[in-house]
Amino acid sequence: MGSPLTVLFICVISFSVIPTSHSIPFIVLHGIGDQCSNHGVKQFTEQLSEWSGAEGYCIEIGDGAWDSWFMPLQDQAEVVCDKVKQMKELSQGYNIVGLSQGNLIGRGVIEFCDGGPPVKNFVSLGGPHAGTASVPLCGTGILCKIVDTLIRSEIYSEYMQAHLAPSGYLKLPNYLPAYLEKCRFLPRLNNELPGERNSTYKERFSSLQNLVLIMFEHDTVLIPKETAWFGYYPDGAFSPVLTPEQTNLYFEDWIGLKTLNDAGRAKFVSVSGNHLGISKGDMKKHILPYLVDQEASSTIDRSKSIMVQSDSGKQVVGKSVDDASAILVARGSLFYNWPSSIKNFIGELLGLAEDESRPHA
Ligand SMILES: *[C@@H]1O[C@H](CO)[C@@H](O)[C@H](O)[C@H]1NC(C)=O
Repeated sequence: MGSPLTVLFICVISFSVIPTSHSIPFIVLHGIGDQCSNHGVKQFTEQLSEWSGAEGYCIEIGDGAWDSWFMPLQDQAEVVCDKVKQMKELSQGYNIVGLSQGNLIGRGVIEFCDGGPPVKNFVSLGGPHAGTASVPLCGTGILCKIVDTLIRSEIYSEYMQAHLAPSGYLKLPNYLPAYLEKCRFLPRLNNELPGERNSTYKERFSSLQNLVLIMFEHDTVLIPKETAWFGYYPDGAFSPVLTPEQTNLYFEDWIGLKTLNDAGRAKFVSVSGNHLGISKGDMKKHILPYLVDQEASSTIDRSKSIMVQSDSGKQVVGKSVDDASAILVARGSLFYNWPSSIKNFIGELLGLAEDESRPHA
């Protein structure tokens, strides 16, 4: 109990939780169906802020959940661009932590925001960076199948593009020409259009200090889960899943992902758990180091190595058990929890009679 090692351990731990004033602020961009006032994302932001000593701001777009669904992503990115420009706290630079769909908004801010404050580190949790190939609308059932089919064929229509945020990054490999021609957000964000590649986007994205791409091993929301790393299906087929390095986006370096990786500034991280279900231990390991300054970062490294050394201490074991407890960051971000109001909205959009959709509501 009173061994010098224990005392040292306690000292280092208490030292490491004293917030340092050097850390630059970070912003959190939540996922679809979520909002800053929700418990999960609030707790997530506060926890990171507490550990890092950095100010953390959850940036809201419009009224939150509703606008996350129905405001086109280019407009959402513009809202955030305007907000970060107005925040004096961010003027010396800041970090972005993105959750799910929020990562595309974050990348939109990095690439498109003219005159915005500099973004240093970008930590992405479960981001559909290369698109997603599924609209898991309401599970099984004949009506769901019909709606799903309609969505698939209508998703690149002008109307959907202007009214449903996910239509901006649904990339169906079997509808690729329509995607490239009509999808308004992701093809531009990823510099996918041969005649329209903008070197400014690449310049801005590749100037990040660190890009951290966290993939969830058991992600059932992103199809395929490897999209969190920029991995995706080949054009025209649903298999096999290409690794990031096998994609043209990487190989031809459309947005600077290869540049970042060659410079050792891209981290491809895989954690256990379903979409956004990250443990505190993994948050400390994979997010925290990018939110703290060098000084605080070395303190954390020291405390970690001491925890490894003092393997006899029961307190330490207790601590790591606590760290291992998974916290679900944002329940609202799960695609498959479509609220009934949204199901009705889509039903109307597709011209389905209301009573038809009722049995499945
Ligand atoms: C590329 O993007 C930048 C920044 O938004 C813009 O100022 C520029 O006009 C764009 N270039 C082209 C060729 O579209």
